[in-house]
Amino acid sequence: MTADPVKPDIRPANIRFSSGPCAKRPNWSADRLETAPLGRSHRSRIGKARLQLAIELTRELLRVPDDYRIGIVPASDTGAVEMAMWSLLGARGVDMVAWESFGSGWVTDVVKQLRLDDARTISADYGELPDLSQIDFDRDVVFTWNGTTSGVRVPDGDFIPADRQGLTICDATSAAFAQRLDFAKLDVTTFSWQKVLGGEGGHGVIILSPRAVERLEAYTPAWPLPKIFRLTKGGKLIEGIFRGETINTPSMLCVEDYIDALQWARSIGGLDAMIARADANLDAIQSFVDSVDWLENLAADPQTRSNTSVCLKITDPAVTAMDEAGQAAFAKAMVSALDAEGAALDIGAYRDAPPGLRIWAGGTVETADLKALMPWLQWAFDMQKASLKQAA
Ligand SMILES: Cc1ncc(COP(=O)(O)O)c(C=O)c1O
Repeated sequence: MTADPVKPDIRPANIRFSSGPCAKRPNWSADRLETAPLGRSHRSRIGKARLQLAIELTRELLRVPDDYRIGIVPASDTGAVEMAMWSLLGARGVDMVAWESFGSGWVTDVVKQLRLDDARTISADYGELPDLSQIDFDRDVVFTWNGTTSGVRVPDGDFIPADRQGLTICDATSAAFAQRLDFAKLDVTTFSWQKVLGGEGGHGVIILSPRAVERLEAYTPAWPLPKIFRLTKGGKLIEGIFRGETINTPSMLCVEDYIDALQWARSIGGLDAMIARADANLDAIQSFVDSVDWLENLAADPQTRSNTSVCLKITDPAVTAMDEAGQAAFAKAMVSALDAEGAALDIGAYRDAPPGLRIWAGGTVETADLKALMPWLQWAFDMQKASLKQAA
């Protein structure tokens, strides 16, 4: 009998590596949240002021142009994306661009629920980006900036022409605050607080370009719109939504938590610092991946590798020789062992993605914690491989 692989000496100080809700910011404490707006109406002076502050800080940190509107909307990122699609699509043909589970979900919405006649799907498998040159920007375009379940992102907005006729609707939920969003190329941008800022679920943010507002005011979709999706009244934009007069009641506790996260991001140096932290985190993971022969980044092209949702596949021949269920069981056993050891939480691949690991690397995660995690990945792999050998 061979000895069990030796456990590393050090565990990450914070073992929360979930891809959503993501780790709270360093030194987060519920005690730091402002409590004055709690138990007050969101339409009171203080309630509205806090919602407005959240919008202003979002604009400052993400560098959203002054003539773009920012609204806080219900139902997290999903609510924001669906509100945009239900309100705007149908005026012209649409190209749906998808390369992982969330993007595919938006395709299902458009093809099976909205049932748009003139919808094209441009897609790629997990790990790849589709051929972006196939997109026709004279049509509307829906895409996900960072595919959270495959760890594949667009490198920048250069593939989008400035003089497009259609609107671009971008689900940026796992990109905002970690990657540079090119707002000149984006007509609708959405995200939720629970990702890169480590905020809470429940609320979405929708950012509209002047052209998106023009469409909203000029076009009425053929289908009914529930109140929760309505951005216009009598053919005019409901401007109040973009000043913090939310459509329905928000959680003021979540709003306070979001403000806390935004203020923390500002205090460490804003967007540049948040991007640098995520980049350093990806580097910590990728350096380890490059140093071993059993693990690879699911994103084949380094240009497209996510610095937030880093997805890894196990390429050891003993594992790849197994069928998909066997590979999934192997990865799951590693994930469970790391959980049981108190070394990492929630690092399994997404349920629809190829078997493997997914480690969150957004700016609320400390690089030192990822560095401490890497030897544990090796340990979990060695343990699991040894148990395969014993079973053989
Ligand atoms: C790319 C992407 N889109 C949409 C969602 C759904 O976000 P929410 O649960 O905030 O609605 C997620 C969540 O992981 C995501 O990663």
